[in-house]
Amino acid sequence: MRAITLESVPSAPAVAEVDTPRPEAGELLVKVAAASLNGIDLATAAGYTQAFMEHRYPLVLGQDFAGTVEALGEGVEGFAVGDAVFGVVLKPYLGAGSLAQYVTVPAGHGAARIPAGLKVGDAGALGVAGATALVSLDAVALGEDETLLISGASGGVGSLAVQLAAARGAKVIATARPGAQTDFVTGLTGAEVHVVDFTGDLEGQVRAIAPEGVDAVLHLAGDGAQLAALLRPGGQLASTTGLTQDAVKGQDVTIHTIMANPDPRILTSLAEQVASGALRVPVTATYPLEQAPEAFAAFGAGTPGKIAVSCS
Ligand SMILES: NC(=O)c1ccc[n+]([C@@H]2O[C@H](COP(=O)([O-])OP(=O)(O)OC[C@H]3O[C@@H](n4cnc5c(N)ncnc54)[C@H](OP(=O)(O)O)[C@@H]3O)[C@@H](O)[C@H]2O)c1
Repeated sequence: MRAITLESVPSAPAVAEVDTPRPEAGELLVKVAAASLNGIDLATAAGYTQAFMEHRYPLVLGQDFAGTVEALGEGVEGFAVGDAVFGVVLKPYLGAGSLAQYVTVPAGHGAARIPAGLKVGDAGALGVAGATALVSLDAVALGEDETLLISGASGGVGSLAVQLAAARGAKVIATARPGAQTDFVTGLTGAEVHVVDFTGDLEGQVRAIAPEGVDAVLHLAGDGAQLAALLRPGGQLASTTGLTQDAVKGQDVTIHTIMANPDPRILTSLAEQVASGALRVPVTATYPLEQAPEAFAAFGAGTPGKIAVSCS
């Protein structure tokens, strides 16, 4: 099959011919129709993940997938050949990823059905970013009318988090560069979003909207300690980039270090919200699998929202 692979790290992702995987016990073999890029794919190519995860070569990149069940491993229940499924590849090593024509995934974790109303191209870009946005919002226990600062709102996780937070009735302050990125963030939801320019005086802009400090922060990009200083006393921050409580010693705030867990309930909840029209998957570019190296270049250069890859 065709796949986006690395022969070593650090190296540039390339399209190559590799063996089609076979489903082990408890796994689904999925014919991949769509996938998307995430920060971990770039981090893997750059060699940043080898210190904390086993890498198997040729290493097929990719975590998000959507497609059709092609075969079932021994003992799989609850799925049938032909089912439309999506989710996140969760394995204890890197190398059996979804940027390929086929992928194997554990049936019991990281996979869910695609409901009517969710397009396969959107499903392939939803898992990692959607689950991370949802888990982060749940971590800060955001209430209605509370003020939430989303740093990194223009990215894949952020553009889903803006919509989910607005739907919960929060007052959303979202970061973006001036110009096209601001227009993108403003257009994410029908609800009012206060956009602040992270390349300017961030503190001044946020304090003008929330003089006593914000109730919560999603730290998806930027300087975590600077963002934590914008919280009101007792406020909460969820960090997807590894900020810990140690970074705010002596400050009356709580830091949640997020490791998103895309379990089937979370995936199903996200899928239903998209199918009902309450949530939009912010795909801003789609590349064919054969052009995935160009997709990586675009991701590295800063494309707002999600970059999808069409694999069939
Ligand atoms: N812990 C987990 O489970 C988990 C899961 C998924 C993702 N993550 C991590 O979470 C982060 C966000 O993921 P993502 O997929 O949304 O990444 P992304 O698509 O690259 O988005 C990041 C966004 O932040 C913007 N940005 C850059 N510097 C900024 C700053 N100083 N202040 C505010 N915004 C800034 C970027 O804009 P420009 O491109 O214009 O610079 C980009 O739009 C990544 O670090 C990713 O690795 C963690």
